[in-house]
Amino acid sequence: MTKKQRFLNACRRLPVDMTPVWIMRQAGRFMKSYRKIRSRHSFIEMCKDPRIAAEVTLQPVERLGVDAAIIFADILLPLEGMGVGFGFTAHDGPVIHRPIRTLKQISGLRIIDPHESLDYVLSAIKIVKKELGENTPLIGFSGAPFTLASYLIEGGHSQNYLITKMMMLETPGAWNALMTKLSKVVLLYLGAQIKSGADVVQLFDSWAGCLSPYDYEKSVMPYNRMILDGLKKYRVPVINFATDNGGLLELMSGSGGDVIGVDWRISIDKAWKRIGYKKAIQGNLDPAVLFAPVKEIERHVRAVLGMAAGRNGHIFNLGHGVLPATPESHVKALIELVHGLSGR
Ligand code: CP3
Repeated sequence: MTKKQRFLNACRRLPVDMTPVWIMRQAGRFMKSYRKIRSRHSFIEMCKDPRIAAEVTLQPVERLGVDAAIIFADILLPLEGMGVGFGFTAHDGPVIHRPIRTLKQISGLRIIDPHESLDYVLSAIKIVKKELGENTPLIGFSGAPFTLASYLIEGGHSQNYLITKMMMLETPGAWNALMTKLSKVVLLYLGAQIKSGADVVQLFDSWAGCLSPYDYEKSVMPYNRMILDGLKKYRVPVINFATDNGGLLELMSGSGGDVIGVDWRISIDKAWKRIGYKKAIQGNLDPAVLFAPVKEIERHVRAVLGMAAGRNGHIFNLGHGVLPATPESHVKALIELVHGLSGR
């Protein structure tokens, strides 16, 4: 079975020879080969040069043995073409130069043509596809509207998402205008990635776990559903991911996607039961476990695999992105453990 068959089968809940595994943020600073390139270029330069983006996308496939590549990019890239300036600082992560807080600003945001403003991502996808051939699948991705809106409104990462939640609750007209625009952009962008060769796409609603189920259902789910419905015509599997989503599992499952991503704050057997066995599941090792000795990592891998119980439709992953200081050898050991312990 090729990695591509293994991965796509798991997305579709078909039998596999062993559990497929990849790592969120697998192309990143924990890898020596990434840091080497990063020492010569800024992060944005790397994203915008399709050859460099393709090279770092392939590094984890070649060096770690993961079952899928994920295109090297960032969820904030579409914002530039919409007319929003941003940058990345060394310690605080992304910073939006002029946060979006009024209806007037929202009206000024452009619906992008991804073939124009994100052509560099689509070019990188085409290069990677040529290199991977039919053996290894490529995952495309986008931030989901709520997570993108939270960066736009807060101006960066947030502790409690107060300004975002106040727009959502106090000015529903502005909220709807912003979320509608973002949904259109996300759908166009993911569609373009699929047409350029992405075999699977993941929607990162990383911060949606900060919401009550009531607000998620009323103010976020309709937009995600529009995107997930709009993607159906492409007939590629879609992974619907959020962190800290233990309170939202039924709603996320109901909003669509073929695979639901879950973090480590809930055990995967309980999560899957609530999501329903008609969906595949991705997760859910705590990224911190990778700092422990390999013996301890093995115990955790056995626990996750045990709870997934060999059921068709499990994609092994961390519950969230790999941390930059993670020992690279431990990540490699993790991939080998998942494959070795899950052989059917
Ligand atoms: O998974 C992969 O390997 C693909 C690449 C990828 C990156 N960002 C590269 C990146 C993906 C899928 C993302 C998604 C992303 N970006 C998310 C959603 C996923 C998640 O973690 O919840 C979010 C919230 C962002 C926004 C973002 N970009 C933040 C918060 C940061 C700073 C965090 C940090 O660790 O500094 C970034 C920068 C970023 N994106 C880096 C990488 C490799 C680090 C850049 C560097 O080399 O300095």
